[in-house]
Amino acid sequence: MAFGLYVHWPYCESKCPYCDFNSHVANAIDSERWVKAYQNEIERVARSCPDEILSTIFIGGGTPSLMKPEIVEAVLGAATSAWRTTNDLEITMEANPGSVDAARFRSYASAGVNRVSLGIQSLDDTHLRLLGRKHGRDEALAAIEIAQNTFSRVNIDLIYARQNQTIDAWYAELSEAISLGTGHMSLYQLTIEDGTVFAQRHKAGHLRGLPGDDSAADMFELTQSLCAAAGLPAYEVSNHARPGEECRHNMIYWQAGRYAGVGPGAHGRIQLDKRRIATEAIRDPGQWLRAVEEVGNGEHPETSLTSEDQITETLLMGLRINEGLPLAQLEKAGLALNDWQSRLDLIAEGYLEADDDRLKTTASGRLLLNSVIGCLLQDLKTTQS
Ligand SMILES: C[S@@+](CC[C@H](N)C(=O)[O-])C[C@H]1O[C@@H](n2cnc3c(N)ncnc32)[C@H](O)[C@@H]1O
Ligand code: SF4
Repeated sequence: MAFGLYVHWPYCESKCPYCDFNSHVANAIDSERWVKAYQNEIERVARSCPDEILSTIFIGGGTPSLMKPEIVEAVLGAATSAWRTTNDLEITMEANPGSVDAARFRSYASAGVNRVSLGIQSLDDTHLRLLGRKHGRDEALAAIEIAQNTFSRVNIDLIYARQNQTIDAWYAELSEAISLGTGHMSLYQLTIEDGTVFAQRHKAGHLRGLPGDDSAADMFELTQSLCAAAGLPAYEVSNHARPGEECRHNMIYWQAGRYAGVGPGAHGRIQLDKRRIATEAIRDPGQWLRAVEEVGNGEHPETSLTSEDQITETLLMGLRINEGLPLAQLEKAGLALNDWQSRLDLIAEGYLEADDDRLKTTASGRLLLNSVIGCLLQDLKTTQS
């Protein structure tokens, strides 16, 4: 089974008003401290699962393209010394168009990065301003070109269902984005996350012009059909790829596989003896650094996942991807399939399908994914209690 490493870089140039990721703005960053802390944490985590064979590394953030190339090199050096690796190790790095330049990208590529994920968000200057982005359309287009000239695999992130966005405007914007020719696109509906500036504005009635549920659902369906027609079908609710260009690292999450997480707030799922262990690092960057330096460990105490936790995670993740999840994985985690009536009801209603011993959402199930999962989990609570 594939094993991945997630490394979190928690800094950005500015905080976007919609974003609730663990990202912070800092005046000064001491690269040497970060290098040592990442190296120590990677070595510490690897001691608990030394026999894994690393097949993916994902450097996410925050804005990892603000990392000095020496830090990236040190992180990748530590990871590839700590574990054996597959021959086709996928190494992804997230980048923000405002911090992309060709020389910097070439340094990341020489350090081993072979896939880049660009936070484009929109190709329209007015909407980029509404999203509080520091970059404009021209910078976005230039960054995509530089990325395509440097890396063989490139993803772009776009956010839709934005303020005052019509379906025709999304059709035009998405068509242009597809024409740029990247092999992967992550297309997210704008979510108003608690604790963000957008949430405050929304509560105060100042975030006007957001599409209603019906328009957002129309935009989702348009997204599915346009991308599929262009040869980038969805393989997950928000992720589209040319066949073979799927993000292998994220597939590990969706298949409820094993991965280590290093850096502030990073999560991991590792195997210790027969137990599946959840790890979570300290979220605040300063506190994480101090914990690594002073106690030699940047994580909260680890927890063993119960059978119910594992079933819940397997469902939450596996029903997001087109291939679905093997029913045997649920049985292995302790689920008595025969007692699970809501599964049969949802299959009969056309929201789920079961074939080849896998459970999958149908297109209409994916449109109502949260309700479908809610219904399955509710039923599990009653059958397992
Ligand atoms: C961790 S960010 C990394 C990318 C990079 N920091 C940037 O913004 O350019 C990953 C992606 O999540 C998406 N995202 C973040 N907050 C979102 C929200 N509230 N609604 C929808 N998508 C969101 C954006 O598309 C973003 O590019
Ligand atoms: S969206 Fe990206 S650049 Fe903006 S605050 Fe979040 S992580 Fe940073």
